[in-house]
Amino acid sequence: MSVLKKLFRLMPDGAQSAVHGLVENLPWTRRGRHSRWVRNTYSKFGHDQRRLIFLSAARFLHINRPITGYYLEFGCNEAKTMRMAWDNFQYLFDFTYVGFDSFEGLPEIAKIDEQENWKKGKLAFSEERFRDICLGHGIPKDRFRTVRGFYDKSLTPDLARELSARKAAVIYIDCDLYLSTVPILAWISPFLQVGTIIVFDDWNCFCADPERGERRAWREFLKANSDLRFEPFVSTAEGQAFICVNVDTGLVSNIELTN
Ligand SMILES: C[S@@+](CC[C@H](N)C(=O)[O-])C[C@H]1O[C@@H](n2cnc3c(N)ncnc32)[C@H](O)[C@@H]1O
Repeated sequence: MSVLKKLFRLMPDGAQSAVHGLVENLPWTRRGRHSRWVRNTYSKFGHDQRRLIFLSAARFLHINRPITGYYLEFGCNEAKTMRMAWDNFQYLFDFTYVGFDSFEGLPEIAKIDEQENWKKGKLAFSEERFRDICLGHGIPKDRFRTVRGFYDKSLTPDLARELSARKAAVIYIDCDLYLSTVPILAWISPFLQVGTIIVFDDWNCFCADPERGERRAWREFLKANSDLRFEPFVSTAEGQAFICVNVDTGLVSNIELTN
């Protein structure tokens, strides 16, 4: 072991982290090059891909105006996509922003959703922090709402009725799992209009297996609602968006708004 490594090991934890931070930012070290590439190229690519989805949605919705109403987001976590939605829509549209989340992280992972990185409670983020971030970012309080709870319990007919004054312009689904996506799709039908954009953030999870994840939930939804028509929209490394082009007949949903 080199003398430098021995000295490093003798340092207290705080000093070790400081040295780590310093080394990570030295441009000529391998570690420094690695962390800069991750930050400036790899992570930036992921961010830019999501931005592409939101900007494409803004272009589509503006060119085909008026398609207005809600930005509904299922899977809120650290408010990255909620903030991105606001950043890319605020100057063109007066949407109302609604975030749906357990705010306790992922639910119990069932067999069909098992994968190494999914664990019950992972991605937990408090509702209060989420709200503070969104309001601090500039989303107006009177056009912002959160709905707390696991989707199989929180997405009730009463809630649909309560929100039914508007349709959705954009529905952003970012909840990773098949069993989380199913109740969302069963609930959103009353909010669809011609031009509604549905985004699946995790379209390529589970190695893009059509029998799992958001792909499976979407296929089953389309089968149960064969009179609804959607066209593919933006496609990225991770996500896939669709545009609703027909809502005339045959909606199958767990909601009966008219009775
Ligand atoms: C990947 S994170 C969302 C990331 C978020 N869009 C962002 O940009 O920060 C997934 C979120 O989905 C939520 N979630 C997953 N399944 C859920 C369920 N069945 N009911 C409620 N929330 C769920 C988790 O709590 C978590 O916050």
